[in-house]
Amino acid sequence: MMKSLLFLVLLCVWALSFAQPPVIEQCPDRILGNERRRTCPKQCQHDKDCGSKRQCLCDGPCGLSCVAPGRTCPWPVPAAENLDVALLSPSPSFSAQMEVRCHPGYTMANDLDVMIRRCQGDRQWSGEEPVCTERGHVEVKAHVFCPLPDDDELLSVEGSAGLGATVQYQCAEGSVLVGNSENFCHENQTWRYPHPICQRVFCPPPLEVDRGYLVAVQKAEYKVGNTIYYLCKKNFLLDGPNQVSCQSNGTWSTAPFCRARCPIPAHRSRVIVGGAKRWPYDLTDGMVTHGENVTFFCKHPQKHCSFTASASCFDGNLTAPSCYLDPTWFQYKLYPHRLVSEIDLCDPADLEDSLQ
Ligand SMILES: *[C@@H]1O[C@H](CO)[C@@H](O)[C@H](O)[C@H]1NC(C)=O
Ligand SMILES: *[C@@H]1O[C@H](CO)[C@@H](O)[C@H](O)[C@H]1NC(C)=O
Ligand SMILES: *[C@@H]1O[C@H](CO)[C@@H](O)[C@H](O)[C@H]1NC(C)=O
Repeated sequence: MMKSLLFLVLLCVWALSFAQPPVIEQCPDRILGNERRRTCPKQCQHDKDCGSKRQCLCDGPCGLSCVAPGRTCPWPVPAAENLDVALLSPSPSFSAQMEVRCHPGYTMANDLDVMIRRCQGDRQWSGEEPVCTERGHVEVKAHVFCPLPDDDELLSVEGSAGLGATVQYQCAEGSVLVGNSENFCHENQTWRYPHPICQRVFCPPPLEVDRGYLVAVQKAEYKVGNTIYYLCKKNFLLDGPNQVSCQSNGTWSTAPFCRARCPIPAHRSRVIVGGAKRWPYDLTDGMVTHGENVTFFCKHPQKHCSFTASASCFDGNLTAPSCYLDPTWFQYKLYPHRLVSEIDLCDPADLEDSLQ
């Protein structure tokens, strides 16, 4: 009994010696004064220390800090000559990495030719602005470049801010560039033009549609990409798209029409509507919808036979073909079977003879 208990204890000790300690993501304690930055964000242990808009994230040498996770750093552009920069993350947001690499034959002060900079919680890239000097060249040239525009989520900059270089500006979807889209960095570290700004585009309230209405909460302005739906009032047919959207130039896409039904200009004759021969009073309200075709029966000028002629309804307007004559009340009541719409159709040959 004692022997087997001792064996069990030994087995446990042996098993424990193989267990790995749990992996904890390491975040350094706050080391103040170690980085270029003046201040660190508020220190924290948990997200709940940071209020609703910020999270407790590891901010490099600042340690666990309250950071707004959507914050971005300036778009990486070479701020000096003889080096290239590349963003290693999809966007320059918090904790994104940027690689700075000296051109071949050039090196940084620490004798390395590449460094990684991190997007800090204070929207700055970590570390000093690197300078690449010719290998073996002792003189350290001051890093000279023109100042980049303030961080703006709509504005992005491409090119080099080094002396004598040019940059191009671009505005995000839904905004327009006001100012010059290109700039040139003078030798005295000033730009030729002021930085442009990106102005958000809005559409005014969309147009009302006659005999229709907008399915929307009325607002004073709408963002690019917003969509508004239209409905037509009862008995009106929607002609065109059932929606409009706010386009990138601040105008709405083409609005639809609400088209009216047409009264049929025949009362005492049958007509063909939708492939069926019917009395007009048998159709709803004696009307056809916009775009619908109506075939009328006309009398042969000489013979006792009929031929057909069509007209279509356009927005409340349906004009009977000129050959059509509405029978009189007298004809309709006394000789219904002799009405033009009820007699035989003419032979195609008869029509050719007399209607040419
Ligand atoms: C706005 O953009 C649309 C689509 O790109 C175009 O059809 C329309 O003509 C433009 N309107 C103006 C005023 O520029
Ligand atoms: C009416 O007729 C025109 C031409 O004759 C044709 O293009 C159109 O599709 C017709 N409309 C309907 C609703 O049948
Ligand atoms: C109705 O149609 C006729 C013939 O096509 C045309 O002359 C007239 O201008 C139209 N009226 C309206 C109000 O559209």
